[in-house]
Amino acid sequence: AIERTLSIIKPDAVAKNLIGEIYTRFEKGGLRIVAARMLHLSKEQAQRFYAVHKERPFYNDLVEFMTSGPVIVQVLEGEDAIAKNRELMGATNPKEAAPGTIRADFAESIDANAVHGSDGPETAEQEINFFFKPEEICPRIN
Ligand code: CMP
Repeated sequence: AIERTLSIIKPDAVAKNLIGEIYTRFEKGGLRIVAARMLHLSKEQAQRFYAVHKERPFYNDLVEFMTSGPVIVQVLEGEDAIAKNRELMGATNPKEAAPGTIRADFAESIDANAVHGSDGPETAEQEINFFFKPEEICPRIN
């Protein structure tokens, strides 16, 4: 089915000038960018976005990292977009990411891992609504 998923290009990848390379992976992978924005997350926004992880030992470091510089947030649309994006990203830990994936090629560490992507249909909907109003999403049939 055609799905939408929320993607974030994290501060490490923005700082390394990898926005275009990562957008190319999405587009060559059959995903369309149907909404996008650059922003510097506040501590409060990062804490809210990652609230599901608030009891995890890495939560404070995660929030600190995600507020360390600007990010790009985008909605990706396409056939099985949630799984497709996860396939393009590779495993959370770049040491475990398959060759040719975004994280294998561009991530530094499990914290500075270049990209975030929603992990399922419910989180995709929540995460899209976190950053975008319905009228900011521009569906396209290519
Ligand atoms: P992300 O997909 O953005 O979701 C939560 C982030 O926490 C994850 O990517 C990693 O960058 C970071 N993180 C740090 N340590 C861990 C860990 N042990 N397990 C999962 N995520 C971690």
